[in-house]
Parts: sequence; structure tokens; C-alpha cells
Amino acid sequence: MFFNMQKGLFITFEGADGSGKTTQLNNIKTFLEEKGYEVVITREPGALDIGQKIRNILLHHDGIVPDKCEMFLFLADRANHIETFIKPAIEQGKIVLCDRHTDSTIAYQGYGRGQDINLLKELNKIAVNGINPDLTLLFDVSTETAQTRVGSEKDRMESAGIEFHKKVRNGYLELQKENPNRIKLINANNSIETVFEDTKNIIIKLLQEK
Ligand code: TYD
Repeated sequence: MFFNMQKGLFITFEGADGSGKTTQLNNIKTFLEEKGYEVVITREPGALDIGQKIRNILLHHDGIVPDKCEMFLFLADRANHIETFIKPAIEQGKIVLCDRHTDSTIAYQGYGRGQDINLLKELNKIAVNGINPDLTLLFDVSTETAQTRVGSEKDRMESAGIEFHKKVRNGYLELQKENPNRIKLINANNSIETVFEDTKNIIIKLLQEK
């Protein structure tokens, strides 16, 4: 055990579709549990019941989803997720590992779809109601590699095209430059083992500082 947790920790995993962040999230869960921490994993969009309905529209609706509608659906899902799952888990002293969160909205709806980034930042603030990540891990991978990893069965967001995904990647990198203390960059072009070592080292450092 590194320390006794009074209040939990909130760690978000960000990056392109195909960046390998979900694999690393699961590996980190096991690693932290072996150290004696209580860990919960969750994701956006669609962790809990209302969320699953929203996720279904966002990823699988086969008609038009206007950009502003998409934006509000991601934010509505987040407001639900924070209130019903993330906040209570942190208050219970758990480590919450969340697959995507606020930075996805800035990268995808902001840089990708071209929605106003400052507006999105304000809307994110309303949705999270004062709960912010202690750490964000950004798994950065070249868009070409990410697209190969995604494969041919793509959901609505994954089908948005290579130019869209390049803008998303660039958006993430901008966000990391703006928030170097919170967002740590990980080279996800490397092997799963190397990426895991890098991820683990960042998390160990955070735990030792707490
Ligand atoms: P998901 O299947 O969870 O993908 P991944 O395993 O890559 O996380 O799909 C989530 C998709 O939704 C993904 O393409 C990113 C997108 N997304 C946004 O566009 N905005 C957001 O705010 C969030 C949370 C996700």
C-alpha cells in the first residue's frame, strides 16, 4: 500500500479510437488492486442506464445526428455519470478509472466537429459540477496506426474519416500543452508492455505525491 486513502482518486484515460487505452485501463486496474486499492472502472459515453440509451444513439443511430445534438448528448451522459457514479465512488475512497471524459468532448466535438471550444469548456464545467480528474493519461498514437487497430467494423464516430481523426489527435495534443500538470502524454505507438510500464510509472508517481 502506498498510502491510506481518505478520499478517492479520479483518473481519466484519453486518446484516439484504437490508441489501446482500454487495454491499459484494465491492466492498471489489476495492478492497483494487487497493491490493495479499491478500484472501479467506468466509461463515457454510457456507463449507466440512462447513459446506455444515450450511448446507443451516439454510436449506433443510423440517421442524421446534428452536431449540436451530438454535443448535448455527450454532455447529458457526463452529467448523469458524474452525479450517479463518479462522485459517490470518489467519496467512498475508491480509485475511479474512467475511459474517456471531458477532454474527449473538446477533442472530438471541438477540434473534430468544429464546435466552439470555449463554449464546450463551459458546458463541461456545468456537467461535472466541480469534480475534476486528478490525472489524465493521453495515449497518443499516429492516426494511421489507430485506424488500422480499429479494423473494418466501425461505429458512427469511428466512421467519421481520417481528416476528422487527425483533427481529434491534434486537439488532444493541444489540450496536453495547455494542461501539462494534469494531462500526461504517453507514446501509444510503442508495444503494449512498454506503454504499460510508462502508464504505471506515472500512476505510481501520483500515488506517492498524494
Ligand atoms: P467507444 O466505443 O467507447 O470507443 P473507445 O473504445 O475508442 O473509447 O466509443 C466512444 C466514441 O465516442 C469514441 O469514438 C469517442 C466518442 N466521444 C466523443 O466524440 N465525445 C465525447 O465526449 C466522448 C466521451 C466520446
